[in-house]
Amino acid sequence: MMKAALLGYGTVGGGVDRIIQERDDIRITRILEKYPKPEIADRVARDMDEIVADPEIDIVIELLGGVHPAFEFVKAALEAGKHVVTANKALVSAYCKELTALAEEHGVAFRCTPAVGGGIPWLHNLARCRRVDEIREVRGIMNGTTNFILHTMLSGTAFEDALKTAQELGFAEADPTADIDGWDIRRKLVISAAVAFDLLAKEEEIPMFGIRTITAQDIANFRTLGRTCKLMAYGTKSKNGVSAYVEPTLLLPNEPEASVPANYNTISLDGKLNGIQSFYGQGTGRFPTAANVVSDCLDILAGERDFYAKPVPASVDNSDAKHAYYVRTAHRDAFLTGNCVTEGNGFVITKDISVDEMHRWAKEKAASDPALFFAAIR
Ligand code: HSE
Repeated sequence: MMKAALLGYGTVGGGVDRIIQERDDIRITRILEKYPKPEIADRVARDMDEIVADPEIDIVIELLGGVHPAFEFVKAALEAGKHVVTANKALVSAYCKELTALAEEHGVAFRCTPAVGGGIPWLHNLARCRRVDEIREVRGIMNGTTNFILHTMLSGTAFEDALKTAQELGFAEADPTADIDGWDIRRKLVISAAVAFDLLAKEEEIPMFGIRTITAQDIANFRTLGRTCKLMAYGTKSKNGVSAYVEPTLLLPNEPEASVPANYNTISLDGKLNGIQSFYGQGTGRFPTAANVVSDCLDILAGERDFYAKPVPASVDNSDAKHAYYVRTAHRDAFLTGNCVTEGNGFVITKDISVDEMHRWAKEKAASDPALFFAAIR
């Protein structure tokens, strides 16, 4: 019987507790929660020190989210010789190197499968594939909230209404910034690329554009172009490190990601031996994510100790990445006119533009036209 402490009793934490209560191989004996509910009163811990000092706790499940104090708590748990499972992509993306080194030093496991893909065992299988294969690319829809919004907008719903529904269903956070502006998917890309290539890219070096400014008219325009918009992340092994970027992308109907519905994700690897392998499932939601958390605990119970890879910090190199773009802006300028191939109802289709250049231009332009939207056409 493995004894666990749970940090955070929110949507996923409550789901983990429900699943574990049905099992007899693991038990949650302590819960750290800022707003404890009556049903967990008998297990609430005073503070993290109490959990760290409890010799009976074998494993700490971190579901607080955010980098601090999650980092300090996870560090303390590892130093006290406790295994850690986390779904916290912000934490892993920022502190992967430090935390994996600490886990190794103390002979304990550090696992984070639910941090990428919610309920999908993507990291676990990516690591399994790369033992024999050379991974050339990881890519996909890695954010359930934005996929839910984009899918809902296909029936003519406005962005704000689709976001509100996502929040009501418990997919989106009260503050949806990390999802709709791309921070969340970018962190998942950093972690996926680290596992695929042993290269830990710096979040801030990865160009990112989200879906905050997409309109019902854009969706109608994509329909006339015969395409569907998805928020995609791409990580490719490049000459000097890893090419990585996050952007809305207009897919053709026959591309597998184009038909991914609701809060689902599709994440793929391209391996030299395997070719493309895709993993499809619910990327957010209480029980899918909670089930993935519990699976990580069971892997540890079965003796799993290694992290998925041994990533070293690497620079992002997008020097070879270029493609066409759909751009909608109220203020056309020389850059856009010079790159325009064709135009439609308030938008321009460009010739191939370097990804770095496009994101740089859009960032500058958004200062005067905050409603600007663009999407890749690859
Ligand atoms: N906010 C995330 C998403 C949760 O919507 O995908 C799962 O990582």
